[in-house]
Amino acid sequence: MSENGKQVTWGGRFKDGPDSLMLAFGESVSFDQRLAPYDLQGSLGHASMLLAVGILNQDEFNQIENGLKELAEEVKCGDFLWKMELEDVHMNLEQALRAKTEAADKLHTGRSRNDQVATDVRLFFKDACSQLREGIEQTMSSLLALAKNHATTPIPGYTHLQRAQPVTVGHHLLAYVEMLGRDHERFSNVANHANVCPLGSGAIAGSTLPLDRALVAKALGFVDEQGEPRLTPNGMDAVADRDLFVEFASACSLCSLHLSRLAEDLILWNSSEFGYLRLPDAFTTGSSLMPQKKNPDCFELIRGKTGRVIGNLTNLLVTIKGLPLTYNRDLQEDKPPVFDSFDQLSICLAVTAGALDGAQINEEKCLEAASDPLLLATDLADYLVELGIPFRQAHHVVGALVARAEESQISLPELSDEDAQSICPQIGKDWREVFDLSRAFAKREKPGMPGPNQISERIKFWEGILGS
Ligand code: ARG
Repeated sequence: MSENGKQVTWGGRFKDGPDSLMLAFGESVSFDQRLAPYDLQGSLGHASMLLAVGILNQDEFNQIENGLKELAEEVKCGDFLWKMELEDVHMNLEQALRAKTEAADKLHTGRSRNDQVATDVRLFFKDACSQLREGIEQTMSSLLALAKNHATTPIPGYTHLQRAQPVTVGHHLLAYVEMLGRDHERFSNVANHANVCPLGSGAIAGSTLPLDRALVAKALGFVDEQGEPRLTPNGMDAVADRDLFVEFASACSLCSLHLSRLAEDLILWNSSEFGYLRLPDAFTTGSSLMPQKKNPDCFELIRGKTGRVIGNLTNLLVTIKGLPLTYNRDLQEDKPPVFDSFDQLSICLAVTAGALDGAQINEEKCLEAASDPLLLATDLADYLVELGIPFRQAHHVVGALVARAEESQISLPELSDEDAQSICPQIGKDWREVFDLSRAFAKREKPGMPGPNQISERIKFWEGILGS
């Protein structure tokens, strides 16, 4: 705010300064201050370009560079005094630089806050994607360690939450490793999309000044694998486009969704009804009333926060959908949802890894549940297929055998050979061999199946990728 109360950065045409209510309403510095390191980096890149094209002289550039470095230090140490009345991170930093050097008056040459903020967030997204990829790797490693320890521990696999067919703990957990592997790739795609420089777009139509867009793009690391600069090809698109926000929030939503489904599986496994898993004390909580309780809050919170992360994506989609080109102030609201998705997903990944590292599988309970012979009813149908019976008929035969056993209140393999043959004359004396779990797994050695060699190959594959 200048002495007459007018806004310093844009107050020229105004008689009065903004109402205090408008200041409080319009400010974004309370949340966009976390862009400060990227804003300072962007300003330094822009200043080096202004030097190269002769808009700044060496002395002015040096003063700006020193000032920006000092500000970076102040921000890092928490010494920087953020002023709400200066609206946003960009104006706060510009004014603070102005207090250090008059040369700051030249810094905003050929630049608008529109291409400035677009640049800041692209730098932020590149950084955030790389941090999330590290978090994903950590969670994948924890899953992989548990999968490896219990690669061959049988458990029922479920459809409709009904016991379906036997799988192994390794096979089940590796399913999540695959999902997170795709998330990892998704975040590198988002980072790749972020890797394009909008500076030089100005407010919407660039500038009449001799800006060198390629130079600033290179200075800020917006380059392809050959080191060639990557520039946004349309200034209007560059300042109005929020695709990256949606892509980032969407990648966060999918990854959270995977964690949430894992959380739900583990909550079930941890229940007395399943009993496959014991969670570490460090990631569970007790009840204030019921002394026996040990609740899987870590995973319940992951499920809960996933709702929030998905909400952030919806929030962005709805904010953007009706906006005419180009920049509209609505877009200031684009940042809290992506910051929140980033923060929530980061902590969810770390908590998942921590809880998995301390989790213990109860092998006895797993084996007991997986030993239900009905899990191998499909294998019995396959056995009949190998005797030449068409699968649809084999399916009916096994259905009839299951019903007969149920009527007699015995388990399927307890049916006598005579009973079985009265339903299907071709059935051999060896039909009960299908109820051997080791046989069932050994017969599933094609890619994607839970055969022991398949599982250990896939564990080796991921260990190679993760370097564990
Ligand atoms: N704080 C603003 C935002 O994040 C910066 C861009 C302001 N541009 C403008 N034309 N008012 O959206």
